[in-house]
Amino acid sequence: MDVISVIRTKRDKGELSPEQIDWVIDAYTRGAVADEQMSALAMAILLNGMNRDEIARWTAAMIASGERMNFDALSRPTADKHSTGGVGDKITLPLAPLVAACGAAVPQLSGRGLGHTGGTLDKLESIPGWRALLSNEEMLHVLDTTGAVICAAGDGLAPADKKLYALRDVTGTVEAIPLIASSIMSKKIAEGTGSLVLDVKVGTGAFMKTIEDARELASTMVALGTDSGVKTVALLTDMSTPLGLTAGNALEVRESVEVLAGGGPKDVVDLTVALAAEMLAAAGIEDADPAKALRDGSAMDVWRRMIAAQGGDPDAALPVAREQHVVTAPSSGVLTRLDAYDIGIAAWRLGAGRARKEDPVQAGAGVELHAKPGDTVTAGQPLLTLHTDTPEKFDYALKSLDAAWDIAPEDTAFEPTPIVLDR
Ligand code: URA
Repeated sequence: MDVISVIRTKRDKGELSPEQIDWVIDAYTRGAVADEQMSALAMAILLNGMNRDEIARWTAAMIASGERMNFDALSRPTADKHSTGGVGDKITLPLAPLVAACGAAVPQLSGRGLGHTGGTLDKLESIPGWRALLSNEEMLHVLDTTGAVICAAGDGLAPADKKLYALRDVTGTVEAIPLIASSIMSKKIAEGTGSLVLDVKVGTGAFMKTIEDARELASTMVALGTDSGVKTVALLTDMSTPLGLTAGNALEVRESVEVLAGGGPKDVVDLTVALAAEMLAAAGIEDADPAKALRDGSAMDVWRRMIAAQGGDPDAALPVAREQHVVTAPSSGVLTRLDAYDIGIAAWRLGAGRARKEDPVQAGAGVELHAKPGDTVTAGQPLLTLHTDTPEKFDYALKSLDAAWDIAPEDTAFEPTPIVLDR
């Protein structure tokens, strides 16, 4: 087999054979196919697509590039959730302990933020002492003793995806549905969860800007999971405006703790409870009441044990950025739009995200929202507070907010977008 013939097949809109796929994934993982050759193939896939058989084989080959975990020894059924990424998407933080409090085991392998979308590990690392990197034994121990674990995927899990994802990130080939679906599902299937709920985000702040693309990504991933014996469900959820009232690492941890304490913004609570209900149903747990587990403190108890088991201090004060800048409403009326992408870019520019994988993030940086679409605002009232340790970044962040909102006359009818768009 030679790589040039594999690239030519896809360049010329052909179907890759199972042998070609197995060979190219294995050879790339071993270093026998060069980055520039894999980039050419990834671009050919982005432009010409893959059919369901090719995607299934590509996913299987990425799983086979590394180890598979096994949770069979646990006494509880496993349930995992994956979000395709958004702005202010802190849902994993309250969700994992909530679902564990209701009786499932939640092995949540998570990622870091890149670009305008945040990453769960960056958020949790703002808790003093908390560790994202666990050995497989430590991960199983935390999962077994607390019911939930949120940590980085080990190096042994789908190593082909680790290499390929880093390459796609720098070659403009992230947005290919076959590559996104196989990337996410290879890690989830290798992780060994029994059931999986996918939160496929739609809107300006998401990878998928249209409901049609989101539906195609969702159905591709559900088919991959189901064919591998993982009970898989997908929700399409709105990402046209940030989730909750914060975007930024420590800011989002603070808001998640509010949700676990029985408060927090309605959209975050509603989505957390909706995803929890799906995860519990997929895991075969029928009689749980996730909304009650938020109210009665049982989800908070699991959160505290889970954070402590990974070295974190759940009582420690969270980092606060050194400088704040308040953005006020320029006119009075109804806030009809507050754009997720623009807010995400502002948070990123303030230091909450990174431009390159190796960059550090500022724990306290980000954007706080004082109004959400549908709220009535008065000229001069605070609309946003920007947080950063590096105030020279304010101007750059403010540029991304030039067209971030619309304020309409007070009598304008406003139709809210539901948080769950489809299932
Ligand atoms: N998340 C992943 O893990 N992979 C992708 O390709 C996109 C988002």
